[in-house]
Amino acid sequence: MTTSHSISTSTSTSASASARQSSTVESKALAGRKAVVTGGTIGMGLAIVQALTDRGAEVIYTGRNERRLAEAQAALGTPLAHAVHSDATDVAALAALRDQVADRLGTIDYLFVNQGTAEFQTLEEVTEEAWDRVFDVNAKGAFFTVQRLAPLVSEGGSIVFTTVSNDQIFPGLSAYSGAKEAVAAFTKVLAAELLPRKIRVNAIAPGFILTPTMGVAELTDKQRAEFIEQGNASTPMGRGGTVAEIAAAALYLAVDATFTTGVELPVDGGFGQGIGG
Ligand SMILES: NC(=O)c1ccc[n+]([C@@H]2O[C@H](COP(=O)([O-])OP(=O)(O)OC[C@H]3O[C@@H](n4cnc5c(N)ncnc54)[C@H](OP(=O)(O)O)[C@@H]3O)[C@@H](O)[C@H]2O)c1
Repeated sequence: MTTSHSISTSTSTSASASARQSSTVESKALAGRKAVVTGGTIGMGLAIVQALTDRGAEVIYTGRNERRLAEAQAALGTPLAHAVHSDATDVAALAALRDQVADRLGTIDYLFVNQGTAEFQTLEEVTEEAWDRVFDVNAKGAFFTVQRLAPLVSEGGSIVFTTVSNDQIFPGLSAYSGAKEAVAAFTKVLAAELLPRKIRVNAIAPGFILTPTMGVAELTDKQRAEFIEQGNASTPMGRGGTVAEIAAAALYLAVDATFTTGVELPVDGGFGQGIGG
């Protein structure tokens, strides 16, 4: 388990093209707002951090891999972003994260619970260890992240989970799909529990999204290419989504959807909608 918890603030200006490419920034509309993004070092999480800081929000984001944390910080290139090494499967680490967030940001307006990982294993292949790994990151990690950080979310703030558009069945992803369905359930139940504090709870449900990992642990380059091809073929829009499209949907739910709570918004090019391709 990860136990180290350090905050680093970027001074680098060497923003990478991948982190920069997606954002169209109209204004500093979120100046003064504060957010936490778990699993914010690559892919969708990094794009959400980028979209928030581009609009002036101050953000603490997490991950476990030190190299990815450092690369994200260099790519973001803004003092509004703060990287924290934190493992979402470790409840003590989440308590430490809460303390760091309280010290640095005080209260927060938005919490994005984005960390996750999938492992392709058939019914016969799933081991108890693999099951625990997948449920720990995706389900337990999501739940306890909210349990520990929700006390810091201001009245009128919001929480956005990342689930998955899995309305179409995906052989080999039973544990992952089950864990993400648990998160879909948290979205509704916690939306009800946090209603008295005027905190909205929603989820984005991505389809095939072009991230470095495609959300799957230890995918080889060849497997990634095959996965992308499969995604293009099975997505009605005929392509994978971009991380910018995910960030736009996540910010919509967090910031603009002020009369929406307890929903899971598919961002999947029609993948889960049964509309054919
Ligand atoms: N890409 C897709 O096509 C797709 C589709 C549907 C849903 N999703 C979901 O969308 C989310 C983002 O996926 P992605 O493809 O952008 O990236 P990803 O490869 O799934 O990684 C997401 C982030 O999660 C972090 N993370 C993983 N385990 C963690 C843990 N125990 N504690 C803290 N952070 C942890 C990773 O950092 P470290 O490496 O440092 O741990 C990384 O920053 C995930 O929840 C994924 O399940 C992805």
